[in-house]
Amino acid sequence: MSTSDPSASIPLIGEPVMPVVDQHIVKPDQPIVGKVHATRLCTDSRKASGFVRHIEIDVSNTPLAGTWISGQSFGVIPPGLTEHGVSHKLRLYSIAAPSDGETGDGNIITTCVKRVLDEDWDSHKLLNGVCSNYMCDLNVGDEITLTGPVGKRFVLPKNPLDHDYVFIATGTGIAPFRGMIMDLIQASGTHDLSSKVALLMGVPYETDLLYHDTLLHWTKQFENFTYHTAISRHTTPDQPKKMYVQDRLVDDFHLLSPMLINKRTLIYICGMAGMELGVFQTLAKLLPPDQLPQFLKIDPEIASDIDHWERKMIPKKIKKSKRVFLEVY
Ligand code: A2P
Repeated sequence: MSTSDPSASIPLIGEPVMPVVDQHIVKPDQPIVGKVHATRLCTDSRKASGFVRHIEIDVSNTPLAGTWISGQSFGVIPPGLTEHGVSHKLRLYSIAAPSDGETGDGNIITTCVKRVLDEDWDSHKLLNGVCSNYMCDLNVGDEITLTGPVGKRFVLPKNPLDHDYVFIATGTGIAPFRGMIMDLIQASGTHDLSSKVALLMGVPYETDLLYHDTLLHWTKQFENFTYHTAISRHTTPDQPKKMYVQDRLVDDFHLLSPMLINKRTLIYICGMAGMELGVFQTLAKLLPPDQLPQFLKIDPEIASDIDHWERKMIPKKIKKSKRVFLEVY
């Protein structure tokens, strides 16, 4: 093919044109110091099984201000030394703020952090997540050392309103979607969202639903926004069986399929490693065979045995298309 072939650069229908994204503007060898601007629980107070805090950090007058877009992460360097006497490693946190920050001036960066408590299997002593508990303990005005932004793939396309979105999250995987939806609301600039957005959100208990009030408010405010929860460890009057996000996809497929067969639609998945396999299996079962390749290309060898797919088959035998974005950890 000639390199001057003009069609070579024209994307397929539905394939998003992605922006060029800046990264690593603040590097670990020259981190900046931000100040906690706000910190609050973003789950349902004390009943939650895991405590998740929404933490806003003021980075005004630092090189990090105004540099990120929604979907990226920033680095946190916890203070102190490890048991081996060296500095702690940098930890990455997903940005929950929109691209222009919480206050619209690029100065306030946000994340949501789950406290990590665990038990050492050998010593049966309490293990603390070093950075997450440090962040959750911070008070307004405290200093915190940051780097970033990081990440260039898990972001909205260049012209975000050219697309509709199915966002699928578990737990704190909601963070980038909060920022992205706020960006879409802002870009729409009308009384409704110009893009259709469906958010599927999976958590253990109903009280673990993050940003629940905000999300419910958006369902009332925007006809084009739908919110589909999946509670995995108990039932509710609205959800008579325990379910994962992929089970919610099955139950609400009648609502979501018009979006999924529309070439405008992109799927973003963020959260627990392992969820992508369940979501891919469900898409493979639900989507008509002529529609599935829009999102997934399946090796014919495994196509008829979806229930026996394994995570290690991604990406060799189960390949996502450019309309699927994945961030799992
Ligand atoms: P469970 O832990 O009941 O098995 P959080 O990050 O707050 O713990 O939430 C993660 C959510 O994702 C939980 O509801 C968890 O359910 C659920 N989950 C665990 N494994 C999978 C999986 N393979 N696919 C989808 N959801 C999952």
